[in-house]
Parts: sequence; structure tokens; C-alpha cells
Amino acid sequence: MQQLFWSALFLDDAGVSLVADEMSREPRLARPNGPADETVNSSLPEEFFALQDELAKNAQALVRVVSARHDAEAIGEAYGRLATTCVRCHERFLYGTSVTPNDHALENEGDEEVR
Ligand code: HEC
Repeated sequence: MQQLFWSALFLDDAGVSLVADEMSREPRLARPNGPADETVNSSLPEEFFALQDELAKNAQALVRVVSARHDAEAIGEAYGRLATTCVRCHERFLYGTSVTPNDHALENEGDEEVR
């Protein structure tokens, strides 16, 4: 992410493309194979997989933007969308408190004491 940031900052479109392309190809955890799936992945809520997909999609979008005509505005926006996905997923899953089976609800959101 740092490399991506510095590449974007100093107008190195090829560098941005390289890093974003790598990000979009990172191995992802597979969605469980139906309700009978007993892999550890089946304990993750759908939202996690959706955020993984969103990350890859936003990384691909950034590659497309830097592969076109150089456009600072578009690069900044695409970079921002990618970073937003990182933050959203961390907000939800980084500290592990939300990763429990079928925990799709955000019922504790905003309740500092529970977090
Ligand atoms: C699909 C959800 C998800 C997305 C999207 C995501 N992360 Fe994470 N990230 C996690 C989780 C969960 C952990 C904690 C993993 C662990 O503890 O092993 C983590 C851990 C990390 C860590 C290590 C932090 C630590 O304290 O050890 C870094 C650095 C990190 N992510 C960077 C990023 C960046 C940069 C992006 C966006 C380009 C990103 N992540 C996108 C879920 C995500």
C-alpha cells in the first residue's frame, strides 16, 4: 500500500499499475460450498467475501485508470476507493470480534462498550 501511495504521489503510473494489478490477483479465501461445508471459511459471513471481491474490483479499476490517459483526478478517486475498502473491512473484521458464524448484523455498531 505504501508503494502504491508513493507511486501515485509521484505520477509513476506504471508503478501504480504493477502494484494494483498484484493486489487484484492476491489469493482470496473461497466462499463456502453450501451449508454443509465444514471448512473454517464457512464461519465467515458473506460480507467478508463481498469485501474481498470489492478490493479486487477496485484494484482492477485503478489499473484501468492508470492504463488510460494520465488523469490525476481519476487516479486519486480510484486510489481512494481502494483504500476505503481496506478501512471498511478492517473496521468490521480486523480485531476479530465480529467474525462469528452467521454474524451478519451490525447490532453493536456505535456501542463503544461492546467493542
Ligand atoms: C476482506 C477484508 C479485508 C480487506 C479488504 C483488507 N483487509 Fe487487511 N486485514 C483484514 C483482516 C481480517 C486482518 C487481520 C488478519 C490477521 O489478524 O491475521 C487484516 C490485517 C491487515 C494488516 C496487518 C495488521 C496487523 O495488525 O497485523 C495490514 C497491514 C493490512 N491488513 C492491510 C490492508 C490493506 C493495505 C488493505 C487494502 C489494500 C487491506 N488490508 C484490505 C481484512 C481485510
